Amino acid sequence: MYTEKVMDHFKNPRNMGEIPDADGVGTVGNPVCGDLMTIYIKVKDNRLEDIKFKTFGCGSAIATSSMITELAKGKTLEEAMKITRGDVADSLGGLPPVKMHCSNLAADALHAAIENYYKRRGEEVKK
Ligand code: FES
Repeated sequence: MYTEKVMDHFKNPRNMGEIPDADGVGTVGNPVCGDLMTIYIKVKDNRLEDIKFKTFGCGSAIATSSMITELAKGKTLEEAMKITRGDVADSLGGLPPVKMHCSNLAADALHAAIENYYKRRGEEVKK
C-alpha cells in the first residue's frame, strides 16, 4: 500500500523538531482527521536556510512533512511557495488515494510558515 520512500520517511523522518528562534512558523490542521502540523523556517538571503517540522498525525502526514522539508531546504522563498501537494506526493513515489489529503497539510504548513515570515517583516506575500 505504501511505497518504500513513504516507509523510509515515516520511520526515519528528516528535519523533525522545532526551531526556537524561527523566522516564520506555520501551523495547519486537517479538519477531517484532526491531525496537526507545524513548520518552522529560518531564512537567510531570501533562502530557506533551515526548516523543521512537528507533526501530530498519521504515518503519511509524517512522511510528507519529512519530504517537504527536504524539497524546500535551500530553495528561495518564491520557489518554496510553488511546491505543491502533488510535488510532495510524487517525490514519495505516490500515496494511496485515501491518504492524498495528508500531503495537503505539508504544502499548506510550508506556505503558512513563509506567509508568517513575510507578515513578521511587514511585507506582502510574494507568490
Ligand atoms: Fe490525517 Fe493523514 S489521516 S493527515
